[in-house]
Amino acid sequence: MLLEVLFILLVLQSQVLTVESSSSSSESDESSERDEEHNKGSSHQQHWGYHDQDSWLSSYEDCGGKSQSPINVNTRQVTYDPRLPVIHLEGYDLTDTPPLSLLNNGHTLQLSLPNSMRIVRGFRQIYVAAQLHFHWGTTEVPGSEHTIDNIHFPAEIHVVHYNSKYPNLSEAASKADGLAVLGAFIGIGLHENDNYEKILSALTDISREESNTEVPAFNIRHLLPNSLERFYRYNGSLTTPPCFQTVSWTLFNDTIRVSRRQLAALEDTLKTEHDKLLSRNFRAPQLLHNRNVLTSFQTVAAAGSARGAHLSETEDDNIKEASETQGKYFHRGCSGYCLWSSLCSHTVGLLNVCISATEKVLKV
Ligand SMILES: *[C@@H]1O[C@H](CO)[C@@H](O)[C@H](O)[C@H]1NC(C)=O
Ligand SMILES: *[C@@H]1O[C@H](CO)[C@@H](O)[C@H](O)[C@H]1NC(C)=O
Ligand SMILES: *[C@@H]1O[C@H](CO)[C@@H](O)[C@H](O)[C@H]1NC(C)=O
Ligand SMILES: [Zn+2]
Repeated sequence: MLLEVLFILLVLQSQVLTVESSSSSSESDESSERDEEHNKGSSHQQHWGYHDQDSWLSSYEDCGGKSQSPINVNTRQVTYDPRLPVIHLEGYDLTDTPPLSLLNNGHTLQLSLPNSMRIVRGFRQIYVAAQLHFHWGTTEVPGSEHTIDNIHFPAEIHVVHYNSKYPNLSEAASKADGLAVLGAFIGIGLHENDNYEKILSALTDISREESNTEVPAFNIRHLLPNSLERFYRYNGSLTTPPCFQTVSWTLFNDTIRVSRRQLAALEDTLKTEHDKLLSRNFRAPQLLHNRNVLTSFQTVAAAGSARGAHLSETEDDNIKEASETQGKYFHRGCSGYCLWSSLCSHTVGLLNVCISATEKVLKV
């Protein structure tokens, strides 16, 4: 999460974090390409970048904690919890409301959201929306933060909400029950996504770092996947310094698709410091430690391994079943990328066909 949350936090915290980084914003080496710029005016100029994520914890203790985000979701090690309440959104349709501010803050593309947007069911309290933003890679490297069975998706959207019992995002961000982020994966589809175009068409206006523009308001619900019923839930953190472990994460199983051209626009348009391309703004998956990942749905993998454990002669069936389901899934959500663990087994047209998806099926 790259957020105005963070800059507010950093400002607030500047009295507390007395030690580190009096280094100035004039620091101009490559290592500062993704530096936090939002605390300009504070006496502290915190610098961090995606290229040396291991160093975050020397300035931000929490980044070395045991409940960090993002994580890899191993779909064979999740716990189905039928009692997880379905997410209920309110006020997401902003049609006919004032325009929204869209910002290139040097780390991400961020859309400000009005506090009339809320998660009214799904958590113990009501959570109020503050902003949404994205993480992405390059045309060669997929850049989601979370991974599913070690697979990165091309991009990921985060809609940041704070607990309504706190007065604002910056207050909430350091509280244990402070934040709820809705995350969803963005893959490549064959068609233009008209809803994403409402944001993406404005990118060229804000290619410069620290520039913003206004976009007509629209129904933000349409930036999320069709189905919100199937999701993963775990306790984690902000994915950027100061990495506070205050986020209840919801990752949707259903994915979003944009066209290849639209994804390329996200990957290739925005600039960060020194006119460098703003890309690969994702943190590596963090260790799970003792955490549970709950699911609101029963995964194919869990069903397959449960049966396979009982009767080895059904193994073939399980493999076939999983293969068909995954083939379908990968076809739908296919990114065309096959780096790292791979993806896109059995797809068509312009999309790649990669192999270790098969290997994964065999391991079910
Ligand atoms: C958030 O709320 C606190 C407590 O009411 C207040 O002191 C602070 O100025 C607020 N911050 C912002 C950014 O509104
Ligand atoms: C997250 O932490 C809270 C408070 O400790 C706990 O009640 C809840 O069960 C945890 N959620 C998950 C998904 O583990
Ligand atoms: C969605 O769930 C299916 C079935 O468990 C799984 O194969 C697939 O990888 C999941 N995708 C995401 C993005 O969670
Ligand atoms: Zn984020």
